[in-house]
This record gives sequence, C-alpha cells and structure tokens, in this order.
Amino acid sequence: MINWIFFLLITVTFGKTILLTNDDGWTSTDIRTLYRDLKKAGHDVIMVAPVSQRSGFAGQFVVPTSNKLETDGEFSYVKSGAPAWDYDKQANDTNIWYFNGTPSSVVAFAFEYLLPTKFPDTTVDLVVGGVNQGPNLSPGFYTASGTNAACYSSIYRGYPAISFSGYAYQYNNSFFKDSMDTDDMNPANIYSKLAIDLIEKVLESGLPELTGLNVNFPAAGHLNENCTEPEWVKTRVLNKNIFSQNLQYDTETNTFDVKYSTFQNIETDCKDGDSVCGLDGEFDVYNKQNCQTTISVFTVDNTIDSTTNDKVYSSIEDLF
Ligand SMILES: *[C@@H]1O[C@H](CO)[C@@H](O)[C@H](O)[C@H]1NC(C)=O
Ligand SMILES: *[C@@H]1O[C@H](CO)[C@@H](O)[C@H](O)[C@H]1NC(C)=O
Ligand SMILES: *[C@@H]1O[C@H](CO)[C@@H](O)[C@H](O)[C@H]1NC(C)=O
Repeated sequence: MINWIFFLLITVTFGKTILLTNDDGWTSTDIRTLYRDLKKAGHDVIMVAPVSQRSGFAGQFVVPTSNKLETDGEFSYVKSGAPAWDYDKQANDTNIWYFNGTPSSVVAFAFEYLLPTKFPDTTVDLVVGGVNQGPNLSPGFYTASGTNAACYSSIYRGYPAISFSGYAYQYNNSFFKDSMDTDDMNPANIYSKLAIDLIEKVLESGLPELTGLNVNFPAAGHLNENCTEPEWVKTRVLNKNIFSQNLQYDTETNTFDVKYSTFQNIETDCKDGDSVCGLDGEFDVYNKQNCQTTISVFTVDNTIDSTTNDKVYSSIEDLF
C-alpha cells in the first residue's frame, strides 16, 4: 500500500518544475532552505530572485541599467562589478540565479530570458514566492508585497502561484550562510516542510485559471516552542479588518513616521451561507497566534460582478 501510494505520488509530480522566487533576495535563509528541501524531496527547481532586498516594492518593474552590478548584492554575496544577472558560482549551482531587478521584473526575466535560453526544454508548472521573512496579510500588505507581486505577475502569464510568508521575526532579513541549518526548531525548516506539503498537493491538482494562494505561517519553533506543527486554516484576504501601512505626523521632527493601522470601515457584502464570507480574515487569524497557518485563495480577475458593474455605469449613464 505504502509503495503504491509512493509510486502514485512520483508519477503525479514527476517531471514537474517549480520556479522559486521572493522579494528578500536570493541570499535569504528562507528561500535557500525551501530550495534545499524541495530538491531533497526530488523536485526540479529553478530559483531566481532579486540580487538585493526588494521587500515592499509591490509590482514595481525595475530592470538593470547596466550589465554589471554597481553596488554589492545583499550580504555582499556577489560584489559590485559582477554581472547584473548570473547563477550561483560559489555554490556551483546553475539552477540558482539572481537578477538585479524587482520581483515583477525577476519573473519576467525568468520567463522571457532565463527559461528560453538556459532551460529551453523546461516548462514551469508552479511558481512559488517565499518563504518571505515577515507576513504578507490583508489587502494592505498583499498589495505592497514584492513576493505577492511575483505571484500575481506569474498568474497573469498563465502560471499558478503560491505566496508563502513567515512570522515577523526578521524584517531585516537573514543571510543563509549564517542561519541555515537542519535544526527542527528553526522556523525556516518548519515553514519549508509545510510549504512542501502544500506545493505537492497543488502540483497534483493544479489551480483554476487566474487563481493563487496566499499563505502565512505563525510563530513556530524557536519563535514559539509550543508550535511545531501548525494546523492549516482556510481564510480570506479581504475582511472587515483591513491591516495596512499608515503614517503619523511627528511634531518633533516635523516629518512623518510609518505606522500600522487596522481600518474597519469596509463592510464586506456577505450573503447568508456564502462560503467565502464565512471564512475568517487571514489577518484576524494570524493576529491571534494560535499556531495556525492561514491559507487564502485569491484571484487576479479584475473584472467585477454584473450587479456592481451595472450600478456604476448607470450612475454615469449620461456619458454614454
Ligand atoms: C561544477 O558543477 C559541474 C556540474 O555538476 C561539475 O562538472 C564541475 O566540476 C563543478 N565545478 C566545481 C568547481 O566544483
Ligand atoms: C536586524 O538584525 C539584527 C541582527 O540580527 C538585529 O540586531 C536588529 O535588531 C534587526 N533590526 C530590525 C529592524 O529588525
Ligand atoms: C507554551 O506553553 C506553556 C504551557 O502551556 C506556557 O506556559 C507558555 O507560556 C507557552 N509559550 C508560548 C510562547 O506561548
């Protein structure tokens, strides 16, 4: 029985290729851990990520202006003067690439240049963003996140995508050379294992067109020793509590400080029995820190339901 199940898994996911990216940069602990573990689990992975930290860049599309780096990459793993895009020469791994761009342009680099020129016989089956260092929750952060942008940029190109984010423990990123290990309590290792469980399910079943998943892990392992096997919880991105960036005027410095706010003035229009409206918001679940991983389905279909569409057009009917 076990052998049969194993055989089935192998045949179902055999020959599938994952494109792995992020916004924290290609030297981040979490992405390197996931790369290592996906390979160990037998998957084909092509990793390509920004050469430096590009968190919060959302969908901004920056391409190199020179074919050499003008400053060192993140953690000086590659130095100023190195090519603006290349594989990991120190690791001698031609499946690990950096690009001097933002998550959206990295994805374009992958599909328009890297795959056709270096992997011409490869088809990408799934794009994975992350694991991000810090959560990407609620519309405010969903829209600001570079990791999420890499995912929606891929979905627009016709590839299913999953965005993974970890607990807010290292907003300033950690270098994989310093922090990668095999300690079961290292959050990066816990997140990687969970991510692979979901990735394998999605490789098997696929996702509907224009659809992706947004996943946020709780504090686990060394961050919360009571949480080593978080349970999955179905959530939704949009909810009454919108968590977002905000600013506050600082009278001492005569300038502005960044702060975070929860806006509660958006009433979502829920019909009784609507299975999506019945779900908790991912922000509310994450905020409780009950050792739960939120998993929200999102779509990049920017069209609108016909009732709302007709209502708006009729209010400006004189124009037509
Ligand atoms: C790099 O990897 C290639 C292919 O696996 C191998 O042939 C080569 O010897 C390696 N080079 C170094 C310097 O380790
Ligand atoms: C960045 O990391 C360093 C070293 O781990 C830590 O001391 C510092 O507090 C961190 N800064 C922020 C803003 O998280
Ligand atoms: C872990 O559980 C113990 C026992 O229930 C509790 O005392 C402790 O505060 C918990 N730690 C965290 C980080 O939640």
